[in-house]
Amino acid sequence: MLRVGIIGQGGITSVHYAGYENLNNEGIEIAVDAIADIRPEMLEKHDVPRKYADYNELLEAEVGKLDFVDICLPTFLHAPAAIKAMELGYNVLVEKPMALSYELCMQMCETAKKTGRLLMVAQCCRFSNFADAVRDYMASGELGAVRHACFKRDDGTPTWGWDNWFLKGERSGGALLDLHVHDVDLLNSLFGVPKYISSGGGTYIEGDGVDYVSTNYYYEGGLYNHSTGGWVTNNQSHYGRIYRVDFEKGHMIQTVVGDRQVFKLCKADGETIDLNEKYPAACPYTAEIRYFTDCLVKGLPVTRCLPESTADSIRIARTEEISIMNMGERIAL
Ligand SMILES: NC(=O)c1ccc[n+]([C@@H]2O[C@H](COP(=O)([O-])OP(=O)(O)OC[C@H]3O[C@@H](n4cnc5c(N)ncnc54)[C@H](O)[C@@H]3O)[C@@H](O)[C@H]2O)c1
Repeated sequence: MLRVGIIGQGGITSVHYAGYENLNNEGIEIAVDAIADIRPEMLEKHDVPRKYADYNELLEAEVGKLDFVDICLPTFLHAPAAIKAMELGYNVLVEKPMALSYELCMQMCETAKKTGRLLMVAQCCRFSNFADAVRDYMASGELGAVRHACFKRDDGTPTWGWDNWFLKGERSGGALLDLHVHDVDLLNSLFGVPKYISSGGGTYIEGDGVDYVSTNYYYEGGLYNHSTGGWVTNNQSHYGRIYRVDFEKGHMIQTVVGDRQVFKLCKADGETIDLNEKYPAACPYTAEIRYFTDCLVKGLPVTRCLPESTADSIRIARTEEISIMNMGERIAL
């Protein structure tokens, strides 16, 4: 039986609670023993043995009682909470984006090394059926090399967060770090850190960070990728994404709009394969928690989502911001 404390009880925790329930149904026993939130009404929603009014309180009171903490706080609190947790002896699963700056991410990595604690950032797209399919076809070589990947992701303006933190750039990093980081991180995990980037974008919502971005990624060897997205649409039901990876002998496409999803492989010889059958959509949040707890139990490093790699995603995203401020300047990484 693993014991977890969930820190922050806002929007994203619903899928984490569902993840723990799914894993218990699979026979992987995990108990949510403690939770924390500064809003008392959020603590009332859950039947959990021990409840705390702030993340510091939980961390100080639960030393030695939990196998790990699951940090679901607003982004500006990720680094301080994760660093304090590891220094007190906790293993840490922390929501994406890792932290507001590359320097803070590296402090988290260094603390994990110094304390010997397991740290993983919940970059859920690494655990998606799309990522699995791209990785498999890249490894098999069946479709030849990748020529180009193009990811587009949009969402409605997030007005639901605690204290409107999403729309305060210094707390969230804007859509660049909160939304677009999913695609930056997926590209990074599949193709590595690009050699150069060049970005356009802007801030349309007062006080926000970059809330729309479009980036060109140039790699060693000539690969060129592109990613674009933001949260400037003001209808929450707009959520959608279009992912395409072009191989030499076909292309893979996944489109998601609301609950409608198309996932296909269109081969150069004319054959079309429905990848929903070969790679059925499974909950990526359950998959990431399953992976993290498996590594924890077996004492293995989280190679599929190393903290240094998720830190690189923040470095890439923040470099995109500099490029935007410099009218699309091409910047080396
Ligand atoms: N992986 C994904 O797809 C995904 C989706 C949504 C959000 N997220 C990430 O999850 C994190 C949380 O987002 P959210 O949507 O749940 O935000 P939210 O605003 O709904 O929830 C944050 C919670 O933290 C609580 N909180 C604030 N300060 C606290 C403190 N000092 N101690 C304890 N609790 C405190 C707030 O009261 C709130 O309930 C963010 O980093 C976000 O980027 C990830």
